[in-house]
Amino acid sequence: MTAIAAQPFALLAYCRAGFEPDCAEELQDVASCDGQIEKGAGWVLFTPKKANPRALNSLIQAKLIFARQSVLVHARLELGSRDRLTPIVAALNELQQEFCDIWLEYPDTNEGKSLSSFCRKFGDYVLKATSEHGWIDNLGEQRLHLFFPQQNEVFIASRPAKEMDWLCGIPRLRMPVDAPSRSTLKLHEAILMLVDEPERKFREGMTGVDLGAAPGGWTYQLVMRGLKVFAVDNGPMKGSMERHHQVKHIRDDGFKFRPKNPVEWLVCDMVEQPIRVAELIAKWLASGMARRTIFNLKLPMKKRYLEVSKCLALIEAKLEQAGMQCHWRAKQLYHDREEITVYLTTARD
Ligand SMILES: C[S@@+](CC[C@H](N)C(=O)[O-])C[C@H]1O[C@@H](n2cnc3c(N)ncnc32)[C@H](O)[C@@H]1O
Repeated sequence: MTAIAAQPFALLAYCRAGFEPDCAEELQDVASCDGQIEKGAGWVLFTPKKANPRALNSLIQAKLIFARQSVLVHARLELGSRDRLTPIVAALNELQQEFCDIWLEYPDTNEGKSLSSFCRKFGDYVLKATSEHGWIDNLGEQRLHLFFPQQNEVFIASRPAKEMDWLCGIPRLRMPVDAPSRSTLKLHEAILMLVDEPERKFREGMTGVDLGAAPGGWTYQLVMRGLKVFAVDNGPMKGSMERHHQVKHIRDDGFKFRPKNPVEWLVCDMVEQPIRVAELIAKWLASGMARRTIFNLKLPMKKRYLEVSKCLALIEAKLEQAGMQCHWRAKQLYHDREEITVYLTTARD
């Protein structure tokens, strides 16, 4: 058990189970100080070797790829099985900080699922106690996060509250009834999480190319935003995307197809080696055939962070050779599996 610390002493990142080593590697790479790593199922704890709140504060602002969400840890408590509330209230009493809200969270694992109902019920008691003490104030900028790796242990943590934050870092998106595949949620999540001002960047009348489009889940997202889409795949488009007037299905190899005119958007979900996809994306953008792209990199079993870094570095280098700068944001989304999703643009806005 650690005592409560007004200044956070560690950063806790939530990640997809099985990707803890990649998340840990990224934290160590991005942090501006040496730190110790502890891995649990679906989470990674990074503790600077010497107390370094400034480094932690910059780490929480970093746009991490393998962390779904990260929080700054003030205390880690072991809880008994009877009265879990008293030690938490005692710790918060020492902290004496106001928060805009309080979230009880748990890892995205099978064991974590059983914690969700515990957190829901226990959350009512915690909210009542914290409100009574005046620790919850809508005007606060920090949100209090109580993360339970198990029922008898809690991390007391906080993060600057952002509109795009989701409980446990998991966006709850509704599957559209007429979308042809669940993959549609991947592109929906990517647009929500990675693209600033999406309503300005996806507009009626724009054109997009979807490489590896079948059966049409990603195409569906573009069509719903008013785009005309060249859907490239040798496989069949299905359901609402089979004969849609905004969709032209092209049975071709995604590595060979090029449109007659430049397009606003290129999206790509082909199951291929990540480095081949990175080369393809770089060619499209360097030649000006598209200015904005969202693509998936399907990852190998090992050294995934290294592979991602190589792919992004390759694209940056090719664009630099072409005299272009790019801006990217990459993330392993909740709807991603053994893959990450990247939004990359050469546009200045
Ligand atoms: C994961 S699925 C795409 C799912 C799609 N994004 C959706 O939301 O429905 C991958 C697709 O890539 C296609 N594909 C793989 N290699 C390709 C290539 N070289 N050219 C065109 N399509 C390819 C496959 O036929 C398959 O339909």
